[in-house]
Amino acid sequence: MSGRFSRILVGSNLKMYKTNRQTVDYLTDLQALTGDISRQGLTLFILPPYTALADACRAADHNLVRIGAQNLHWEEEGGYTGEISARMLQEIRIDLVMVGHGERRLLFHETDEMVNRRLLASLRSGFQTLLCVGDRSEDVACGASADVLRTQLKRALHGLPPEQVDRLWVAYEPLWAIGEGGIEADPQFANEMHALLRDALDGISPNLGAHVPILYGGSVNLKNAASYAHQPEVDGLFIGRAAWDAERFNQILRRILSVRLSNPG
Ligand code: PGA
Repeated sequence: MSGRFSRILVGSNLKMYKTNRQTVDYLTDLQALTGDISRQGLTLFILPPYTALADACRAADHNLVRIGAQNLHWEEEGGYTGEISARMLQEIRIDLVMVGHGERRLLFHETDEMVNRRLLASLRSGFQTLLCVGDRSEDVACGASADVLRTQLKRALHGLPPEQVDRLWVAYEPLWAIGEGGIEADPQFANEMHALLRDALDGISPNLGAHVPILYGGSVNLKNAASYAHQPEVDGLFIGRAAWDAERFNQILRRILSVRLSNPG
């Protein structure tokens, strides 16, 4: 893992898996289990479902765990049934917003243009913003992963105001690697894709790649976390299933941090 950034970013997207009460219990446990880990070298974040966000924000010690939303709409308000605006999220004091998750793209047909509008609205509203990009298995099969990732990144970041880049994180999440039935990406392949994304960031704006951490996500677990964390281009990990048990997540975190400590970059 690179020493490019002083903190490792490690987070979990709870998707549509925990109720409000389960989320609060999970956060309480996670904070108790990981309270002794110095946050000088770690930024830990959790993205609960919308119904759990307000209570999660109240339950969290934001110095220990940052709380984020899984999406947001680009308008402040309006006839957009089922959507949530930045203003609603600001009121409950969340720390970050994710946009462009692979499941949103694949299952809910979110386009690059929608992801771009969501991202710009999130940054404009002052949120730390996590942009997810990812190739599909058919892209790998025809050797198009690199092109697809470059295009997704460029389209998502179109019109990015330079003064807002410090609030941007990117996650590489291959669609073929995430969720049930996902196939673990080879850590070196993930590293190559991260290097490519960093280059593409530099192509968007000189030296942008040095300012934007890139996380890897997709079937990360206790067994493979260290091999991803070893990769020089990997600035953090974004974990689903394996992190939804607080004790398991605690073990993964400690494993990642031991890699970081033995390879300070
Ligand atoms: P997974 O999910 O770790 O369960 O594969 C990752 C994600 O979808 O963000």
